[in-house]
Amino acid sequence: MKSGDKYIPLKKLNEIKELALKNPEKFWGEQARCLDWNKTWDKVLEWKPPYAKWFVNGRLNACYNCVDRHILTSKRNKAAIIWVAENGDTKIMTYYELYRKVNKFANVLQNLGVETGDRVAIYMPMIPEAAIAMLACARIGAIHTVVFSGFSADALAERINDAQAKVLITSDLLYRRGKKINLKNIVDKALLNCPTINHTVYVKRNSDLKLVEGRDYSWEELMKGAKNYIDPIPVDSNHPLFILYTSGTTGKPKGVVHSTGGYMVYTTKTMEWTWGVNDMDVFWCTADIGWITGHSYVVYAPLALGTTIVMYEGAIDYPNPGRIWEIIENHGVTILYTAPTAIRMLMTYGEEWVKNHDLSTLRILGSVGEPINPRAWKWYYEVVGNRRCPICDCYWQTETGGHIIYPPIGIQNIPLKPGSATFPGIGIDADIVDESGNSLPANKKGLLIIKNPWPGMLIGLWKNNKRYEEAYWKRVPNCYCPSDYAIKDEDGYFWILGRADEVLNVAGHRIGTAELEHVLVSHHAVAEAAVIGKPDDIKGEVPVAFVILNKNFHDKNKKELKEELIKYVKETMGPIATPHMILFVNKLPKTRSGKIMRRVLKKLIMSEELGDLSTIEDNTSIEEVKKELMDFEYR
Ligand code: PRX
Repeated sequence: MKSGDKYIPLKKLNEIKELALKNPEKFWGEQARCLDWNKTWDKVLEWKPPYAKWFVNGRLNACYNCVDRHILTSKRNKAAIIWVAENGDTKIMTYYELYRKVNKFANVLQNLGVETGDRVAIYMPMIPEAAIAMLACARIGAIHTVVFSGFSADALAERINDAQAKVLITSDLLYRRGKKINLKNIVDKALLNCPTINHTVYVKRNSDLKLVEGRDYSWEELMKGAKNYIDPIPVDSNHPLFILYTSGTTGKPKGVVHSTGGYMVYTTKTMEWTWGVNDMDVFWCTADIGWITGHSYVVYAPLALGTTIVMYEGAIDYPNPGRIWEIIENHGVTILYTAPTAIRMLMTYGEEWVKNHDLSTLRILGSVGEPINPRAWKWYYEVVGNRRCPICDCYWQTETGGHIIYPPIGIQNIPLKPGSATFPGIGIDADIVDESGNSLPANKKGLLIIKNPWPGMLIGLWKNNKRYEEAYWKRVPNCYCPSDYAIKDEDGYFWILGRADEVLNVAGHRIGTAELEHVLVSHHAVAEAAVIGKPDDIKGEVPVAFVILNKNFHDKNKKELKEELIKYVKETMGPIATPHMILFVNKLPKTRSGKIMRRVLKKLIMSEELGDLSTIEDNTSIEEVKKELMDFEYR
């Protein structure tokens, strides 16, 4: 099962890359043939910076491309989804079954009054119904907004309200680490503040679920009366396929909007170039569908290519650390795509768990979400891949739709360097620049930028053009700036060094420090808060909060207050934002213009040299923080 059979010579790859940048219209026009279109585009690209329209006036349906077209081929009875529950239960759904269920659920949505262009919120565990719901929305041109099921009621409500979703699709509970998490309670709380939601559909997993008459419906019941087939509605190529919220530098999450045509072409082609998938493959991307990796490489790209995917509900190390390896062995997974934080966690359990399983089906090992440190790379390569499988480090973002910097292992066996995502992908003109936009020489750290539009690029932020322009196109004029630091080495390999803004990367998830600070100061005990990221062996980075308490809370029990604040953050934002440490201080280091010097806080927590302090307003704030840190260590 070698993908090497399909390799093209390096010279040819470079020619393709050159053509894609020189003549993007010709190149992407040819690539777009990977999909079935109801109407061909009039123009491949209309670029009015910073707004790109791909495949102008083309019409297509994303669901048709992921489902219908396969049932006309020998893929009809092939497994589309191999679903594994945390308790080991397994269900295999063929493309034909998926087609049936998607059709029926699309009809359910229609019966609930959902029309093309309406927004539908999806708040679900990793169960096949989540993918079915996404595809059913796409079938009728409704725009889905998936909210990660680990988010709290407030976070869910905020996203539903921004998108003005009409219908919410959810489940009464999810299973995680042997526990049942009651989603229904969270949903009920969120819906108290979501006036746009008319109906909620529950995948019922608990027999005593109580539904609100006239608002809540059971998925199963609605499916019984639904039609077996409804026509997929062809939409304009630039019709939004989905909105996905991600963290930014201000308190409010950003609603990233992706198009139908450009996004589908880009994710499908990057899937092919990165992995070279074929009918022998069983592809397992461990990401949750609540994140972009789940959208692009659990649902849309693999299904557009008719690939068999694994979907797993639960923790990959539960009920024992061998769970992930057992699934690979049982289902003959050929490509594994996971995050460095997961690899580092699995490393702590030791090699035995891996060695007890037959992982000989694996052919490529993928990594995403943060830079992969050399130790984790080596372990992944040597212990998991037995030195046979290339490590495919893919750099990208919610906004980029698909991989941006990655080794195109599906078509070229390029030499890898541990920790580098290698080169900008086909059709991506990337560079490293200083803050004024000047290109930097080899090995100089600077901002990563992309100088050209590509089909997977976001088409905007939901109802917020101004923020779109400011967040991505102002820092380096006329270039897309993902706000990551990087260097390019003497061989042209790109090395991503981490965020270049006030956003943390916790276990591969983006958490805006401003968002977390905003939550903390909304608690009645808190006057001011500053959040920074502290390096962590497993999660890469963890949030640390410095908090100034309101006067009447100074005498309160600090331990209890900390616990209360942690609980409050968990409930308001979700467990992924839980501060690792909370420190109570009386002052925070600030500049004379009143800006919190997070850089100084970070150095203090790392016990590093503080650097230039010429702009600090009050030096005593540093002593204050130092003292609290000392006390914290001895407590
Ligand atoms: O900082 C980069 C980091 O994750 C950010 C994007 O986060 P998100 O939109 O949540 O999407 C995550 C999955 C695509 C980037 O700006 N990042 C992502 N992949 C890598 C990475 N950093 C280094 N190497 C990567 N392979």
